[in-house]
Amino acid sequence: MLSFEENEQLVRTGPGTPMGTLMRRYWIPALFSTSLPEPDCAPVRVKLLNEKLVAFRDTDGRIGLFDERCPHRNASMFFGRNEENGLRCVYHGWKFDIEGNCVDMPSEPPESNFKRKVKIESYPCMERGGVVWAYMGPAELKPAFPELEWTLVPESHRFATRHIQECNWLQAFEGGFDTSHVSFLHRGDVPAGGDRVLPQRYEVLPKEFGFVSAAGRAGKPGELNWMANVMFMPFHKLISRHGGPDAAIGAHAWVPVDDENCMIYSIEYHPERPLREKEMERSKNWRYIHAEPIPGTDRTVANRSNDYLINRGVQKSGKSFTGMPGFGVQDCGIQESMGSISDRTREHLGRSDTVVIRLRRQLLEALNSMAQGLPLPGMRPESYRVRSAGFTLPESESFESSVDDFIRADARAPEAA
Ligand code: FES
Ligand SMILES: [Fe+2]
Repeated sequence: MLSFEENEQLVRTGPGTPMGTLMRRYWIPALFSTSLPEPDCAPVRVKLLNEKLVAFRDTDGRIGLFDERCPHRNASMFFGRNEENGLRCVYHGWKFDIEGNCVDMPSEPPESNFKRKVKIESYPCMERGGVVWAYMGPAELKPAFPELEWTLVPESHRFATRHIQECNWLQAFEGGFDTSHVSFLHRGDVPAGGDRVLPQRYEVLPKEFGFVSAAGRAGKPGELNWMANVMFMPFHKLISRHGGPDAAIGAHAWVPVDDENCMIYSIEYHPERPLREKEMERSKNWRYIHAEPIPGTDRTVANRSNDYLINRGVQKSGKSFTGMPGFGVQDCGIQESMGSISDRTREHLGRSDTVVIRLRRQLLEALNSMAQGLPLPGMRPESYRVRSAGFTLPESESFESSVDDFIRADARAPEAA
């Protein structure tokens, strides 16, 4: 349980809010690169951290990300003309380059220097891993890009989708680290494996990049099977690795759109080899079935308006604990059911909520560090070079002293900026 004030601090991400200010210190996924397929293509609307924005690719292929409102008289730049290295507002023709400089102001007399005084709010962007990332914080505090492994592998090694979840980012993010729900919410859809058994031990280890959380479940006598998830600041996860060292790795990012919606990026990748058709099929059909977007939108086929296609017969039969189709839908449906913004003042947290409690503490501590001007976690790009893992240890062996050997990653050098 959190106080009302703590909850408010964590869930609000608009400009000037504590969490909004913290998130603006990190690179934020804004859209897929494929949404801006070629130079001078149509601009797209983007909403990030409660800000309405417009993204476009200029004549040289560079990305611009603007406040949606033209600084002249607030017309939407979405309707703008994307032409010759700039986006031109169609109301009175003011044109801006990707840095937000006004490069043409045809509505004013030619001798006027007014255009030199006007800028449109713009955010620097870079493309990594098929995603356009934005930095929305103070220029002097801009960090180097985090070396998330899925952004460093070749395109053939990665498969990504995204969809909107209609609730606050934090309850969705917490769901990603809620260890015990897998044994219930997803029962029936979990492939054969240890996740059906309740964990015996929980571990959360703070790290430079965020934390590693793990659940240890009983294996052979005297052994524990550990599933270790990785949390990267401020909203990333690597899902514990099932199926041995050659298994693909799943990743998510829960990006606030506004306080009542978040965009979930779901990535499957392999560090060393191209993904197999079968692995992409798994990503599409097994885990995210019906969490696929309705074509042309980020909204999912199963959603609040159709009760997530719940099938009461399947629920009753026990083939699926929920009767909802697929992991993604189950998570989405149940997390949205907690309310647009979950009221954490009325919770009753138990031992199985250990990781959720620690996740909140980690974020509150980061807010505290920021308020005091102390260094923030996750600012050193190389610190992100770890992987999630699944491994077995003798019961007597310390998780803490062993885990680093399993999560170390040999990522490639970053691509050129
Ligand atoms: S409102 Fe954009 S140029 Fe006038
Ligand atoms: Fe889940």
